[in-house]
Amino acid sequence: MKMELTELKKHYRQAAAKIPHDSFYFEANNHKYRHSIDVLHAGQELLQDTPELANVSADFKIQAQRALLFHDIGRFEENIRRYESELAQHELSALSNTYDHGLIGYEILQNSPPYNDLRILFAVRYHGKMMSEVKQSPMWHEIEKLPPEQADEIKKILYLVRDADKLANLRVQKAQHHLRQDAFYKQLSPEAVIGPFSALPKEQFFAEQTVDYTNLKTYADRVLMVLSWIYDFNYRRTKQLFFEHQYDAYLLGELQTCKITPSDFKAVQNILENFHQNITV
Ligand SMILES: [Fe+2]
Repeated sequence: MKMELTELKKHYRQAAAKIPHDSFYFEANNHKYRHSIDVLHAGQELLQDTPELANVSADFKIQAQRALLFHDIGRFEENIRRYESELAQHELSALSNTYDHGLIGYEILQNSPPYNDLRILFAVRYHGKMMSEVKQSPMWHEIEKLPPEQADEIKKILYLVRDADKLANLRVQKAQHHLRQDAFYKQLSPEAVIGPFSALPKEQFFAEQTVDYTNLKTYADRVLMVLSWIYDFNYRRTKQLFFEHQYDAYLLGELQTCKITPSDFKAVQNILENFHQNITV
């Protein structure tokens, strides 16, 4: 992955050169570089330990690793754009949805001949979207028309990137309390830091759906969104790792710092216990 690392560094450095060191986006940019490497490593482990990925070709492995490393390549350009628009408008743009880093990354790689491969492009473009949205996209419909083996490889790499991305994020959230350092947390009022679940995130979580970022109002909602990633995990090994690393206990602990009703807390706990039981039997 030497050539790929050089390519990733090039995009990281372009952004680092344009953003002042004291800007929020400078650290965000550093974080995304480290995150890209973390996702590559998490994905490499899944490639080794996931039965569904046991018999893949050497070429599949190369394209999968490229998709893992490049999944957030659009983030560097996004950081430049957010920094520049904030400078012009004097307002925090970290939370707005104006930029689609998946699409920016897709366009970068489409114009880089060694990486213009549908298995990489599709994963980069859609790794961060809700699966319901992915399945409604024109690209998904095009992929469905391809020969089954080809479509299967494209989907397997998207699923691998989605799972590895979440595992890498969970590791940093737990080890470095990153949930309390990100852009969402920074804009919360003191009441929202300890407030209860809002209606929509709660409704989505108990309906076993991934919680939509745009509906989050409190820190408890944000934690619930991370817990809802269990519904998005594609490989059994990813689900097992979630519990082996005790991310359930860490996130429940975070919820205990919020004003959650005992019945809500118990209900979340029960969902996690049942989910865990279902993957162990
Ligand atoms: Fe991303």
